[in-house]
Amino acid sequence: MTQNTTGRVAELKIDGKVYTLPTLEGTEGDKAIDISNLLQETGYITLDSGYKNTGSCTSSITYLDGNDGILRYKGYDIEDLAEKCTFVEVAYLLLHDELPNPRELAQFKQLLEQFALLHEDMIHFFDHFPPYAAPMSILSVMVNCLSSYYPEMGDDPLANIDITAARLLSKIRTIAAFSYKKSMGQPLIYPRHDLSYCGNFLNMMFDNPVRPYLVQPAVVSTLNKLLILHADHEQNCSTSTVRLVGSAGVNLYSSISAGINALWGPLHGGANEMVIQMLEAIHNDGNDFIKYINKAKDKSDPFKLSGFGHRVYKTFDPRGTIIKQACDEILEVLHVSDPLLDIARELEEIALNDEYFVKRNLYPNIDFYSGIIYRAIGIPTNMFTVMFALGRLPGWVAQWTEMSVDPSRKIGRPRQVYIGEKQRNFVALDDRG
Ligand code: SDX
Repeated sequence: MTQNTTGRVAELKIDGKVYTLPTLEGTEGDKAIDISNLLQETGYITLDSGYKNTGSCTSSITYLDGNDGILRYKGYDIEDLAEKCTFVEVAYLLLHDELPNPRELAQFKQLLEQFALLHEDMIHFFDHFPPYAAPMSILSVMVNCLSSYYPEMGDDPLANIDITAARLLSKIRTIAAFSYKKSMGQPLIYPRHDLSYCGNFLNMMFDNPVRPYLVQPAVVSTLNKLLILHADHEQNCSTSTVRLVGSAGVNLYSSISAGINALWGPLHGGANEMVIQMLEAIHNDGNDFIKYINKAKDKSDPFKLSGFGHRVYKTFDPRGTIIKQACDEILEVLHVSDPLLDIARELEEIALNDEYFVKRNLYPNIDFYSGIIYRAIGIPTNMFTVMFALGRLPGWVAQWTEMSVDPSRKIGRPRQVYIGEKQRNFVALDDRG
């Protein structure tokens, strides 16, 4: 029996027999029926494709309300965190349950500085990826390799989790920037002690020996906001992957590497790249919005309106609302006029007034406008999902750790309903027609 049990029960009547199942209620009133003993008591399992109706765990990290468009990390509204914090503060909150005080923040920043470099041997790995290698595949490989360079994780995964979390948070940023420099054939730019987490990333990405990069406070502030908005999102596909892989006793680095691969999917974190490709296709197609709206509505067409819809949000994704405003602000500061932004706005307007999208509660999600900002900053489209992974890293670590310390933790192993062949007699090779 899990905590938060309400004392009320659900009754299930099967073949004339009534079974009672305990129910529980979360901090914000979310309700669940505890089916931990269903198979043992009834001989039945449940079936729930895509887990739309199934909770995998209890968690104290992030709260979503899909009907009211609420997102909170450890009880703090995303609007406050995005507006008033840096990404490093929010990462600390997710990893340590509380926002840091000045001393804690200084110590955390010192750890991030200490771990900013990669082992020089790892840098040679970049020489062996093909030039067109997808940045998400490089990121997943390199993060997984960290488990070879820091094997202490294997013995007692939680022994130095604070150090490991800071190491991973700092190094994933360096890996991302180095992979970009390598893909451009440019010299690597190393992290600097005098730059912030986001300032360092931007400098490592865009500085070069010929023309020094100017780290602009407005760009740093926007990047902080973007990473905060991506930092966690309860039991989404990639986080559930991190938990499932970790539940088998896999170290943190390799669990995160699995999560990176799940995030890569175009239905998940890969959508931010797909949005730009969709907007460019519309732009190149004479802004034929109706053609693409109709494609999205056509069941025989696999095309979806990327950046629209969400498994949980049935109203505006609160992160999308913040990003849309940040988009207007940073493009004005940078004096950037992006035709794709105008197309995005018009597509949103048409979709939000189309019965197909309205009836299905399909609204812009976090991915719809984020790519416009990344473009304005100078980040290439094939790095957009890498940016999502950088933001999500502290959330993945927090979720992996919460799973690891849960006394009721079990290896994740869903069941199935078998619909294949009944038992049949073996046929020798020579007797097969
Ligand atoms: C992220 O889970 C998270 O929290 C994820 C995330 C995070 O922070 O971790 O928020 C990040 O992944 C955001 C989502 C990014 N993906 C996209 O933008 C891809 C486009 N969106 C869709 O593929 C879809 O909306 C999903 C995958 C996001 C959600 O899919 P669901 O919950 O499985 O919903 P569904 O596919 O069952 O859709 C319900 C109906 C269907 O039509 P009907 O069968 O009822 O007629 O809505 C339709 C769908 O065909 N639909 C869309 C659509 N999204 C849903 N139709 C056209 N375009 C779309 N984008």
